Amino acid sequence: MPDQDCQLKVLITREEIKNTVAKLANEIKEDYRGKHPLLIGVLKGSFVFMADLIRQLDLPVEIDFIRLCSYGADMKSSGKVKVVQRLKTPVKGRDVLVIEDIVDTGLTLSFLLNYLRRKKPASLKVCALTDKPSRRKAPVSIEYLGFTLPDKFIVGYGLDLDQKFRNLPDICVFEDDESS
Ligand code: IMP
Repeated sequence: MPDQDCQLKVLITREEIKNTVAKLANEIKEDYRGKHPLLIGVLKGSFVFMADLIRQLDLPVEIDFIRLCSYGADMKSSGKVKVVQRLKTPVKGRDVLVIEDIVDTGLTLSFLLNYLRRKKPASLKVCALTDKPSRRKAPVSIEYLGFTLPDKFIVGYGLDLDQKFRNLPDICVFEDDESS
């Protein structure tokens, strides 16, 4: 985990994010034309991305949010995930698109996809802004992906370190992050 007092350095600028969100929205629009998808944002990190993405989708989208947390002795790698805030919208028969800020080990997303599959959606896909594939522990497929990143801890654009930095408009890394 990086030291919060280190200098922040911009890794992905707000312009790059804007262009990538537009590109993802175009792909989603093409694929969901004539449909009424249910977008499920994974709290808290995805709220900024979700807000920007849906404003570029001229589709009759519906949104809901779910909040998950990892638990167990080893928080980071236990793979035990639980739902701490449930969906309010029925998923059965819906075209569901999960909106994630980041896929790291994939354990959270893998849990969520299994959880949603049991609710029998008509279709289930994933849109993730960022991915750190070198950290993967559970295989997951991401149909719409923004950025593939190295193993660095990122903050900003909704992503936090200890609940801080979510408000940064760019995606940043810590200068002395030696996690890679
Ligand atoms: P997972 O390891 O794929 O299950 O990701 C679990 C969660 O860890 C993500 O949804 C994020 O909330 C958080 N996370 C993983 N990598 C980062 C990062 O680089 N910055 C901020 N949060 C992260």
